[in-house]
Parts: sequence; structure tokens; C-alpha cells
Amino acid sequence: EWGKPLNGVNILITAGPTREKVDPVRFFTNHSTGKMGYAIADVAAKLGANVILISGPTTLVPPENVKTIQIESAQDMYERVLEHYPHTDVVIKSAAVADYRPIQSFDQKMKKQPDDLQMKMERTTDILKELGKLKKHQLLVGFAAETNNVEEYAKRKLETKNLDLIVANNVSSVGAGFGTDTNIVTIYERDLRKIELPIMSKYEVAKRLLDKVQVLLKGAE
Ligand code: PMT
Repeated sequence: EWGKPLNGVNILITAGPTREKVDPVRFFTNHSTGKMGYAIADVAAKLGANVILISGPTTLVPPENVKTIQIESAQDMYERVLEHYPHTDVVIKSAAVADYRPIQSFDQKMKKQPDDLQMKMERTTDILKELGKLKKHQLLVGFAAETNNVEEYAKRKLETKNLDLIVANNVSSVGAGFGTDTNIVTIYERDLRKIELPIMSKYEVAKRLLDKVQVLLKGAE
């Protein structure tokens, strides 16, 4: 049933949340379950690509024929992505990477204090932005999770991170974003053409996205 149009293409996909450690029993994270990224990895492998999936903690079973690497923090993800970037043709960053982490983390459990607690946070590395700066032959696909001004913010990320495509989802719409089996996305290209997709399964979104990737790869040959 599956043709192999992505035969020989090296695709790096990130999925899931990151965990930013506070102490051995606590961390900051977000609602990503990895469903979107795992669907893309699964479909890409079925289309013949060599797939590396770099995943934050999820409860999902790694797809067949995909090399899955488990990580925890944004920094871990950054290091593993950089390691594989030089021999990657396409990067798809569906992971929900933490933008901040605690400046200090503790090796022993923090004890409760009588007063309020203030925790200082620092920025993590914007992985996609770094990839945009280092880009040579790679095709870079980002995601934008927004709750408002979706189009404006997505287009801005496409520009500032030097991407080739961005997949925007309004994570406050029912049936879209975190945790659901469906998503509602608009895919923006560099020339700002857009493909506005209705609600569909994350697998179907993955197929539509990889169709577009294939067209761009053909154009670059
Ligand atoms: O995992 P699911 O439950 O299926 O949910 C899917 C999803 C909502 C997580 C997915 O569809 C999605 O929108 N993923 C991107 C989430 C996100 O972090 O978006 P953002 O707009 O904050 O980031 C923009 C892009 O920069 C993303 O491609 C992100 O991976 C990347 N980024 C962000 C921060 C950072 N420090 N490094 C990055 O590379």
C-alpha cells in the first residue's frame, strides 16, 4: 500500500515534552504527549525514510523501523539533535521544548519552608533557531503552538528561525494541539503560501506534511 518516496532520505524528528529538573522528585514540563511527533516518525519510516526520533518522556511505544533516542531536558535534546544534524536532510521539530529551566537544581529533595518560594528561571537554548543559523543543505520544519495571533506568530517564527516550513496549531481549539488524536493545522511556506487543513488525525496531518516535504526535496534536487 505504501510507496517509498522518501527512500534514502535522513529525517530527524523531535517529539514530546522536556523535563526541567528542580530536585529528584520535581520538574517543570508541559502537556505534550508525543502523539504528533510519533505519528510523523511512523509515517516517514513507512514512506521509506531513515528516521531518528529524539523524544522527551512519553508513554508511547516507539514506532517500528525508527531509531528512537530518549532524552529528558531541553539541553539533552539540543545535544542529541546537534550530533545528528550534519548528516540529516530534513528536521521536523514537533517537540514542545521548555523555554525556561530553574537556574539552580538540587540533588536532594527541597524541604518545605514556612514562607512563599521564589524560583529563578533561565532561558534554554532555542534549538530550532540554532539549527536555522547552522543550516546548509537541510530542510527545516518547525511547529508553532499558539493560543492567539496564530498566523502572525507562526510567520514570525518561520522568518526568525530560518525555517522552510512551519506547522501552526491553535492549541486552544477543541480537537487540536496537546494530547488529542486529531489536530487542526495550517502549514506555511517560505513564500508564505499556506495550506489550511481541516481537523484530521495526527497521522493524516503527518501524511500531508510529508507530502509537502517531498515536493520541496524534489524542487531542491
Ligand atoms: O505531543 P502532542 O500531545 O501530540 O501535542 C502536539 C504539539 C501541540 C506539542 C505539537 O503539535 C506542537 O505544536 N509542537 C510545538 C510545540 C512548541 O514548543 O511550540 P513553540 O511555538 O513554543 O516552539 C516553536 C518551535 O521551536 C517548535 O518547533 C519547537 O520545537 C522549537 N523550539 C522551541 C523552544 C526551544 N527552546 N527550542 C526549540 O527548538
